[in-house]
Amino acid sequence: MLAILKAHAMGEKISVKVIIGSTREGRFGDKPAAWIYNELRKEPSVDAELLDLREYPIAYYSAPESPAMHTGGYSDRVVQRWSDKIGEADAFIIVTPEYNHGYPAVLKSALDIIYKEWNNKPVGFVSYGSALGARSVEQLRQVAIELQMAPIHNAIHLPVEILHAHTASARGGAAFDTSMFDRLRTGPSGDRVAGFFSQLLWWARALKAAREADGT
Ligand SMILES: Cc1cc2nc3c(=O)[nH]c(=O)nc-3n(C[C@H](O)[C@H](O)[C@H](O)COP(=O)(O)O)c2cc1C
Repeated sequence: MLAILKAHAMGEKISVKVIIGSTREGRFGDKPAAWIYNELRKEPSVDAELLDLREYPIAYYSAPESPAMHTGGYSDRVVQRWSDKIGEADAFIIVTPEYNHGYPAVLKSALDIIYKEWNNKPVGFVSYGSALGARSVEQLRQVAIELQMAPIHNAIHLPVEILHAHTASARGGAAFDTSMFDRLRTGPSGDRVAGFFSQLLWWARALKAAREADGT
């Protein structure tokens, strides 16, 4: 165990996947996802990757067995690709909107379709909506626990003005200004992103060491 912790202290990279939780045409979700991904790439200890659910068109779950019972590979090629990506990760950032006070069905399908690949890994949330997506995040935290994940305390709930600027731009208004995200690092609450990353990476290192110690 000590040897493993030492290896992490010596700079082994932490793999963090940023998942875009919406797929609809004209979505806002890819903007905050690209922003948080670019911020994450500035972290020297992180190997970051952006995962777009549009590239993983996962069908509703229909297999006779629960994913929790599944062993081995997957006959569905999309699910196998998704399993490979999620399996190699040490931590996740899920970027989610709020659809009727919940999170998108496409995101639920992506979470439900596999199981062990999520286990014992932390997840943090970036959310948006009229109530800043807080209701989606609370629901996602419950799902994450059932997937044996560690949902972290800190979350980034985007100021609603940023979503409104996207909506106005989509309706022909001024072009969306990505510098609006800067306030998350420099606003009156301080650097929200630094605290978010620090907590996510603390759990990612701790759980990576624990998984390696028991060979999972
Ligand atoms: C089906 C649907 C339901 C929605 N329900 C809510 C809601 O309950 N609360 C809210 O704040 N916004 C709601 N919205 C507005 C979304 O927050 C807004 O459209 C946002 O851009 C959606 O994220 P996306 O663009 O990444 O898909 C809803 C939008 C859709 C399409």
